[in-house]
Amino acid sequence: MTGLAGRFFASALIYAVLGMSLGLLMGITKDHTQMPTHAHLLLIGWVSFTLIGFFYHLFPERASSRWANVHFWLAQASILVLIAGLAQIFAGYESGELFAAVGSIGLLISTVLFAIIAWPAFGRGHAPL
Ligand code: HEM
Ligand code: HEM
Repeated sequence: MTGLAGRFFASALIYAVLGMSLGLLMGITKDHTQMPTHAHLLLIGWVSFTLIGFFYHLFPERASSRWANVHFWLAQASILVLIAGLAQIFAGYESGELFAAVGSIGLLISTVLFAIIAWPAFGRGHAPL
């Protein structure tokens, strides 16, 4: 797995290690207040980004789109901002709400962009991006 697919998968591995470490820490300390941070780090970072990595691996012509690179960087920036926001919110800092809002909107936009990039892969339609 190389190129954009490899980069998505490599990032997913990093989020897997971070998310599971947080889960383990939650288990050891018996303090589960960061559960949503843990859940989203793993479900978006590890699970979703792995699926995206495999998609781009299976459809390399979709990964070669300039917009696919935009998708990668927007998704990475957004998850980092969202996770920073969630971590602050569940640590009791209201300042995290702005981060969570910006990160969530960024992730949603990146997902819409991914849908537009990916759509032609399973149809015979015209590739818009
Ligand atoms: C080393 C591995 C992991 C450890 C030690 C761990 C630990 C934990 C702990 C302690 C909780 C809190 C449970 C509670 O308060 O009810 C939790 C919740 C959760 N974990 Fe993990 N976890 C691990 C891996 C994963 C993975 C790989 C995923 C997803 C791919 C995941 C997804 C979730 C979700 C979604 C919740 C919330 C469940 C709910 O809403 O009740 N975890 N985990
Ligand atoms: C922009 C992206 C997302 C936003 C803004 C978001 C937002 C939220 C919110 C507000 C909650 C409730 C948390 C609470 O009650 O404390 C939640 C829970 C949950 N979400 Fe998401 N979510 C996102 C993406 C995802 C994705 C991609 C998955 C799965 C692949 C997912 C799986 C879950 C699960 C399993 C829960 C229940 C566990 C928990 O309470 O932490 N979410 N999400």
